[in-house]
Amino acid sequence: MEKTVRVHDRDFDILINKSEIQKRIKELGEAISVHYQKKTTPVIISVLHGAVIFSSDLVREISIPVEMDFVRIKSYSGLESTGKVLMTQQWERKLKDREVLIVEDIIDTGSSIDFLKKKIEKAGALDVKIATLLFKPQPFKYEYSIDWIGFEIGRKFVVGFGLDYDGIGRNLPAIYQLKTT
Ligand code: IMP
Ligand code: MG
Repeated sequence: MEKTVRVHDRDFDILINKSEIQKRIKELGEAISVHYQKKTTPVIISVLHGAVIFSSDLVREISIPVEMDFVRIKSYSGLESTGKVLMTQQWERKLKDREVLIVEDIIDTGSSIDFLKKKIEKAGALDVKIATLLFKPQPFKYEYSIDWIGFEIGRKFVVGFGLDYDGIGRNLPAIYQLKTT
């Protein structure tokens, strides 16, 4: 695994390696399975494109039946959150009275997840929970807690394992953080 990578015009250093990520995803999958074991089949809604890598590994560590759905959300431009959230692709299933688990790559300010959580609640979901691979506790601006977190990280911009910098970096097998000098 590379210790540093270059994406567009920036250098990034390794932050979390592949085996640490896999180990953590296994633990999350087990915890999620235990939680939903005695409930109705949950709908897992993955947020495109970022969460596609994490969610495809995560669902294979979940031992109970689940349904999968997808939404597409945009809020970031380059290295910064724009604060404006748009849903450019809707889920397909009927969510009324369903247990929903949103799967995200990263929660930063929380605007995206809050926007999506409210929309799903409005659609009549019985319960909405959140699982994210990465969480930045400092910029997060909401009061509620996130149900399942892979890793808490600092404020620095990261790429890899689904996360991109202007479209590039999603296929990196580990998480890399922006080198600042
Ligand atoms: P939030 O709305 O500020 O929580 O931002 C969440 C979304 O912004 C995530 O789903 C990512 O798509 C993107 N994002 C936030 N932080 C980063 C980062 O460090 N690297 C890459 N994308 C990020
Ligand atoms: Mg995202």
